[in-house]
Amino acid sequence: MPLSHPLHRTHRHSQERGATRELSINPVFTREPMRIPRHRMPSGDLDPDLARQIVHDELMLDGNARLNLATFVTTWMEPQARDLMVECFDKNMIDKDEYPRTAELEQRCVSMLAALWNAPNSPEPIGCSTTGSSEACMLAGLALKRRWQHAQRAEGKPSERPNIVMGINVQVCWEKFANYWDVEARLVPMEGERLHLSAEEAVKHCDENTIGVVAVLGSTYDGSYEPVAEICAALDELQQRTGYNVPVHVDGASGAMIAPFCDPHLVWDFRLPRVASINTSGHKFGLVYPGVGWVVWRETNALPEDLIFRVNYLGGEMPTFALNFSRPGAQVVAQYFNFLRLGFDGYRRVQSTCRDVASTLAGKIAKLGPFRLLTDGRQLPVFAFTLKEDQTNYSVFDVSVALRTHGWLVPAYTFPANCEDLAALRVVVRNGFTHDLADLLLDDLTYELPRLAAQRQPLRGPEAAAFAHGVKPAGGAGR
Ligand SMILES: Cc1ncc(COP(=O)(O)O)c(C=O)c1O
Repeated sequence: MPLSHPLHRTHRHSQERGATRELSINPVFTREPMRIPRHRMPSGDLDPDLARQIVHDELMLDGNARLNLATFVTTWMEPQARDLMVECFDKNMIDKDEYPRTAELEQRCVSMLAALWNAPNSPEPIGCSTTGSSEACMLAGLALKRRWQHAQRAEGKPSERPNIVMGINVQVCWEKFANYWDVEARLVPMEGERLHLSAEEAVKHCDENTIGVVAVLGSTYDGSYEPVAEICAALDELQQRTGYNVPVHVDGASGAMIAPFCDPHLVWDFRLPRVASINTSGHKFGLVYPGVGWVVWRETNALPEDLIFRVNYLGGEMPTFALNFSRPGAQVVAQYFNFLRLGFDGYRRVQSTCRDVASTLAGKIAKLGPFRLLTDGRQLPVFAFTLKEDQTNYSVFDVSVALRTHGWLVPAYTFPANCEDLAALRVVVRNGFTHDLADLLLDDLTYELPRLAAQRQPLRGPEAAAFAHGVKPAGGAGR
């Protein structure tokens, strides 16, 4: 493997800087000078307190997770949830015979989500937990592909060239899915003010080899919901016209835990017969620490039986559909805790507060003058904003760096094809980001504006983006 392989880049750089250096240890912690290599496993052992201190000190330079407005992922849970997670750190989710109660709690979570998303068979739901939405999307995509292959073969048609249709704004997990599982990714570009997939464009890209359309609720780029019901209606019409029966997967990584509580009248879920499966990240607006996602299928037909392994393991027969085998049980338990603790009303309160903070802050930022909102936080509690055209002496990347000096992590990034010229900042409001914190962010932004305005020209461009929605595979797009 060449040294320049991107997987190694960060590591290689730090290795270059530190190759000859050993860890420097605060003399308070040791009586004798110690030599501890940085990149090789030390030959001897260390006192656990010392080892903990060394690791702890190194982590000090990570950003403050609570001030990280780039991430969708939960950065705060109640101490009771932490206690339960500590209790379960040693439980492997896959050992369902050994930890039957943990397995039962997983099943209850699947049932609750299936009911929340109006699955027709919700008393006996088909779904599972995963490590996050990425794995959930892989599983849902595989089910779409296998289902299409069965249908093609049953009709004696070729099944070698599947494609999947989605907006170019999809999260990178969908490009991974297409690349890893040999499915052509039909990425619909953005156009003008349209920053996500439209029904019209989705249908235009479908043919008899389309395994499904991915509709995102909501877009990682700007928090906007894609029009799932319109996409389904357009695909109904396509079926009438051509006979192509194209199912829809809803990537609700964030929105599937927002819309049921905040937009009860929006029809986006299994109420639409064309929606075959839905995923969400338990660790985003499911409000659990990183490491849990969920996927639910509308019915048994949507998940072909030949994808399910029945493993004879540790004394029981266990049906599994997963990419991983061993996986922590703690996050699943924490998800169940949250469902029990908050209930529907609690989730509604938390999510509506996030939306209220997001839309209020978006409104105040719009009033500052130099900015134009792309979204206003009224769908996902997320908004993106750009600079007005007459603001030519600084860039959104300069704004992001200026905010970072106050501790705020607000990413700046460019949009994909055909909106590459659009550069924006994005704020994700999560539970715990209060109106007070939002006002402090606004104060810091207001404070920085005159200094930015005094610049003669932008100091940074897209190369300064410390944030990517996804990177294309090295050496070409691949299929
Ligand atoms: C729409 C969407 N899909 C999928 C993912 C991947 O989710 P995860 O990080 O849980 O794997 C994300 C993450 O931001 C997302 O926003």
